[in-house]
Amino acid sequence: MKYWDSFWSGGADSGCIGTTDKLRELFQSYYESWEQVAKEVVKTRKSAFRCLDVACGKGEVSKVLSEQLSGIAVSFTGIDRANISYSLDMPEHSVELFSGANFEKFFNTNKKFELIASSFGIEYLSLEESIRLLKEYIENDGLVALNTHLNDSIISKVSLEEISAIRDFFNDDKLELIEKELSSHFNVELAKAYLVRLNELNEQNDGRLAGCGLTDAVVSAFASSQRKMSTSIDLKRVKLTYEDYIERLNDQLRASRRAQELKPLINKLGFEVLFSKKLYNVKNELTSQFLLLRKY
Ligand SMILES: C[S@@+](CC[C@H](N)C(=O)[O-])C[C@H]1O[C@@H](n2cnc3c(N)ncnc32)[C@H](O)[C@@H]1O
Repeated sequence: MKYWDSFWSGGADSGCIGTTDKLRELFQSYYESWEQVAKEVVKTRKSAFRCLDVACGKGEVSKVLSEQLSGIAVSFTGIDRANISYSLDMPEHSVELFSGANFEKFFNTNKKFELIASSFGIEYLSLEESIRLLKEYIENDGLVALNTHLNDSIISKVSLEEISAIRDFFNDDKLELIEKELSSHFNVELAKAYLVRLNELNEQNDGRLAGCGLTDAVVSAFASSQRKMSTSIDLKRVKLTYEDYIERLNDQLRASRRAQELKPLINKLGFEVLFSKKLYNVKNELTSQFLLLRKY
């Protein structure tokens, strides 16, 4: 979980795919879907309402639901293998977390939930863990709301393109030569030559190196060397960060494939489908699959 730990500890926003406000603007169908879930909860709620947020990250789903369920006492439980923590603003809502080393402890509890919710989350767990959650931790009549990755979504497409762009950066002979010289003696001409080549690679990869922040990271490594009046430049940190980044993108692609394997298994578990729809962002790009189910 190293790459997820560094993602969350590196100041990522509450949601893994962007800030809440930006997403509200760019991915309206996502919020509308959670609003529909909240409406279903209000229709069927019992006095004590418990919600499990699977692979919760910094609690984006809990936060969205908490806003929409103001006035109802809801106990949220967030589980995630990375080390995370979050809290909710609504005083009527509590949060219990099982994260990092405590993640496994959740499976020793015998809690049941009226709602199991997950966004770009449950498909990161093994199929066995996901099925166990959906079988053993849901109340009768309970709701399951899942927003999951798709192999052909814009998110998967960008992940593949970024991986390929970063590999081009790692394997480029010209950059390697310039870097060798820069690592023994820094000079502005060499730095410029490095940035010109980086820019060419970025263009060849449709701007994906800039898109994932790599070009900025290199520029700030150069600027920091200059500030320190260093006589050499060390891009090791940038490279380590982007090796980690590739691991996380690969995890996202594996999760997309697992989401497809999970679907037929869920169908066998005895759920009524309240809705199942593909979500598109504001540019009409396919983004995810949203499923709302009720246990019968
Ligand atoms: C794409 S993020 C989604 C986070 C959150 N649901 C959101 O919408 O912002 C995926 C989350 O899955 C967690 N995760 C990845 N692999 C996991 C695993 N094997 N078990 C549990 N959690 C995992 C990561 O730590 C990360 O928080």
